[in-house]
Amino acid sequence: MHKPKDVAVITIDGPSGAGKGTISRIVAKKLGFHYLDSGALYRLLGLCSQRHHVSVTNVKSLAALAEHMDVEFKTTKSGEFTILLEGEDVTREVRTEETGALASQVAQYPEVREALLKRQRLFARAPGLVADGRDMGTVIFPDAPVKIYLTASAEERASRRYKELIAKGENVSLPALVEQVRSRDERDMTRESSPLRPAAGAINIDTSSLSIQEVTDTVLNLLTVKGFSTHS
Ligand code: DC
Repeated sequence: MHKPKDVAVITIDGPSGAGKGTISRIVAKKLGFHYLDSGALYRLLGLCSQRHHVSVTNVKSLAALAEHMDVEFKTTKSGEFTILLEGEDVTREVRTEETGALASQVAQYPEVREALLKRQRLFARAPGLVADGRDMGTVIFPDAPVKIYLTASAEERASRRYKELIAKGENVSLPALVEQVRSRDERDMTRESSPLRPAAGAINIDTSSLSIQEVTDTVLNLLTVKGFSTHS
C-alpha cells in the first residue's frame, strides 16, 4: 500500500532546472494540496552528512542519517517555504549549487533511496499531494493518477539558473553552469538505482520556450480534464 486510498497524488518529475519546483508549488496551492520537494530531502542529507563529517561514500552511515535526520518543512503565514535541519533554518543553504551536487552524489545509493522512500510516502495526506522529483511517478507513487514529466534543454535550464544566481549577486559563469547541468543530468539519468526517466503514461511537457504562466496553464488545464477542481 503506497498511500491512503482517498489521497490523490500528482507526480511532477524531470531534470534540474526544468521548472518543477515553481510549477509544483503553484499547482499545489491551486488545488489546496500538500507539496513534497523530494530533492530537498536529498539536499538535506548532503548537508547533514557534511555537518556530521560523514563521507559521501560511506553508504551505511548515509542511510542511517537518511532514516533519522531531523528535518522539518514549514510554510510561514506569508506563504514562504522554510526548511529546518536539526532545528536550524537552512532554506538558502539547501538551494546552493554545492548542495545540489552533494545531493546528486548521495542520491545514487539504493540504501539511501530506500531509507528516504517511507519518509516521502508519508507526505501523501488528504486532500492530496503534488510530489516533485526524479522518481515520483516511477518508484515512490507509481499509482498516481496524473504523472507529468517536465523537461527543457540543458542550455535553457543553465540560463535560468544563471539569471537566478546573478539576481542574488553571485558570481557565476554560464558555460560552467551548462557543464554542471549536463554532468548532473548524466549522473541522475545513468545511475542504477531509480534513474531519472519519464514514468509510463507520463505527460511530457518541454518548457524550453514556455513561460511559467504558460506551463502552469498547460498543467492546470490537464488537471481540469482529469477531473481535478482548481481554484485561484
Ligand atoms: O530537484 P533537486 O535539484 O533539488 O534535486 C537534487 C538532487 O537530488 C538531484 O540531482 C538528484 C537527487 N534527487 C533524486 O535522486 N531523486 C529525487 N526524487 C529528487 C532529487
